[in-house]
Amino acid sequence: MNLKIAVLPGDGIGPEISRQGVDVMTAVCEKFGHNVEYRYAICGADAIDKVGDPFPEETFDTCLWADAVLFSAVGDPKFDNNPNAKVRPEQGLLAMRKKLGLFANIRPVETFKCLIHKSPLRPELVEGADFICIRELTGGMYFGEKYEDNDKAYDTNAYTRPEIERILRVAYSYARRRRKHLTVVDKANVLASSRLWRKIAQEIAPEYPDVETDYMYVDNAAMRMIQEPRFFDVMVTENTFGDILTDEGSVISGSMGLLPSASTGEKTPVFEPIHGSWPQAKGLNIANPLAQVLSVAMLFEYFNLTEEGALIRKAVNASLDANVRTPEIQVEGGERYGTDAVGAWIVDYIKKA
Ligand code: IPM
Ligand code: MN
Repeated sequence: MNLKIAVLPGDGIGPEISRQGVDVMTAVCEKFGHNVEYRYAICGADAIDKVGDPFPEETFDTCLWADAVLFSAVGDPKFDNNPNAKVRPEQGLLAMRKKLGLFANIRPVETFKCLIHKSPLRPELVEGADFICIRELTGGMYFGEKYEDNDKAYDTNAYTRPEIERILRVAYSYARRRRKHLTVVDKANVLASSRLWRKIAQEIAPEYPDVETDYMYVDNAAMRMIQEPRFFDVMVTENTFGDILTDEGSVISGSMGLLPSASTGEKTPVFEPIHGSWPQAKGLNIANPLAQVLSVAMLFEYFNLTEEGALIRKAVNASLDANVRTPEIQVEGGERYGTDAVGAWIVDYIKKA
């Protein structure tokens, strides 16, 4: 297969983990005889500094050229505490999602046996938890009409029927391939937008009789996720709720540094770690590259290259078993590997496999 990949390293630890992702991708392509071509593009704070725009037109063009985008992270503290900043790195991410029509954000929450002790939950609660959160990504409050002055501000949580229906259908297609259990998360007891979500879900559920559908208020879902994470198989929810719940989900597994995500929709799909740019660690070679590496696995799987994805997952598990780990997940007294050393170990494993 010929693969054209747009690489967007972004800010903070982004460039360091991006390199590991690209190296792993290259190794897998060599092994399986795929042709891969990379084009690099700027985004986030890096792009604001260089051209004044966090998602420049040229970067957009590179994304359109590509079959897939390998994205790392954006964000810089110099913008975080400045409410007057005119442009922010995060706007680049939102612009990318909107312009590429990436309405479906797939965030798996998986546990890794050898990292269960890192979870804030008791092992017996979290062992075997395995669910995916499907977050609507281009609608709701993040994109609705906004107003802001000194004394008043609002964001509008608007959703239309087609926006809701298409994301629900994505969720059902995932549920069908998994344990056939879909939880629709909303706040229909208070919000009009949520009532429309629930109404449409109830309308289309009968088309998927093989899938068990249940409905849960978001506050209850937040609680259930830590009380009984194994309850969930696929959950689907709107943009804001999904943003919050997926951060909660990410810590259940014991390391946010291990979870990848895919954003798919109308144009080029984007694959990225769910963690952010961790600016404090920039250049220190301590960031965990595994979420980025696993996002490469998701990329292959998106193109139905399942063996390629499986080999990456195997290599990641082998690295964990061999204790080749970055500091935040290393066992006590174990050797602490750098970002690049973990990446190199995985590349080596793939080459020898
Ligand atoms: C995420 C991030 C983004 C979001 C921010 C950086 C805009 O938190 O991908 O979850 O809220 O969507
Ligand atoms: Mn978030």
